[in-house]
Amino acid sequence: MPATEHRPVALITGASSGIGETFARELSARGYDLILVARRADRLHTLAAELPHSDILVADLATDEGVTAVEQAIVNCPHLELLVNNAGFGTLKRFWEADLDGQERMHKLHVMAAMRLTHAALGAMVPRGHGGVINVSSVAAFGQTEGNVSYCATKAWMNAFTQGLDIELRGAGSAVRVQALCPGYTLSEFHDTLGVDRGNIPGWMWLKADAVVEASLRGLERGEVIVIPGAIYKVGAAIMQRLSHGMRRRIGKPGKLGKDKRV
Ligand SMILES: NC(=O)c1ccc[n+]([C@@H]2O[C@H](COP(=O)([O-])OP(=O)(O)OC[C@H]3O[C@@H](n4cnc5c(N)ncnc54)[C@H](OP(=O)(O)O)[C@@H]3O)[C@@H](O)[C@H]2O)c1
Repeated sequence: MPATEHRPVALITGASSGIGETFARELSARGYDLILVARRADRLHTLAAELPHSDILVADLATDEGVTAVEQAIVNCPHLELLVNNAGFGTLKRFWEADLDGQERMHKLHVMAAMRLTHAALGAMVPRGHGGVINVSSVAAFGQTEGNVSYCATKAWMNAFTQGLDIELRGAGSAVRVQALCPGYTLSEFHDTLGVDRGNIPGWMWLKADAVVEASLRGLERGEVIVIPGAIYKVGAAIMQRLSHGMRRRIGKPGKLGKDKRV
């Protein structure tokens, strides 16, 4: 827990399941008060009843109204120490075959909501001189695969956005920290929501959400801007970044869109 006079507050989007819920449990154990954001009110109520000092905010972050409500919560929270932009989802199908509404909602959620909430948070954190923002990205940010174009693109944006903010914050001499957390396959409801059988992916590739969150919070303490949990994914991401587009084209073409490649 950071050394502040008040209990620090963490606002977590997508706290109703998976990685977001795990962030909520871990940060609560570390002494944070919580603001839990997602659409499923019942899930948030159950979690808030379990975790002391937690409030819920039911919001759809793919809508203007939802983002505005969470921005207001950030502005009205004088002790916000950590923002976790975690809410996200995947889609199936090639870009032009996929439902446009789903693609648009993904960009609104992964890009516009993360950008607006980060702006609201940094507006208060930078003058205060402390705080942090974790953007939950993906190893998908380091490459492209068929049927996953918007997902890879929005997560790549998230990494570039976070690295740019880090340059600005450090250039301004600020102690506020930002991080893009890039997990590989993680056990959560992500693939259930996507309607994909986890059995398509070998067991050794799966990370546990608590290991992902642990790596993220450790990385934040160390000032790491890009955090990739797990040795296999660190190596995989390093290789992907060195490949030519031609090589990536071959790797990103599973040939069978039924086989899931989203992370
Ligand atoms: N699981 C993986 O393999 C994996 C790998 C790499 C990165 N990630 C990233 O990790 C993040 C968390 O995913 P997860 O794996 O924990 O999946 P998850 O269990 O499905 O959780 C996704 C969360 O996002 C929330 N959410 C989705 N759409 C929303 C919206 N429009 N407004 C507000 N909240 C919304 C969901 O809550 P409601 O449905 O209640 O709104 C849920 O709490 C995502 O950004 C995902 O891209 C996941």
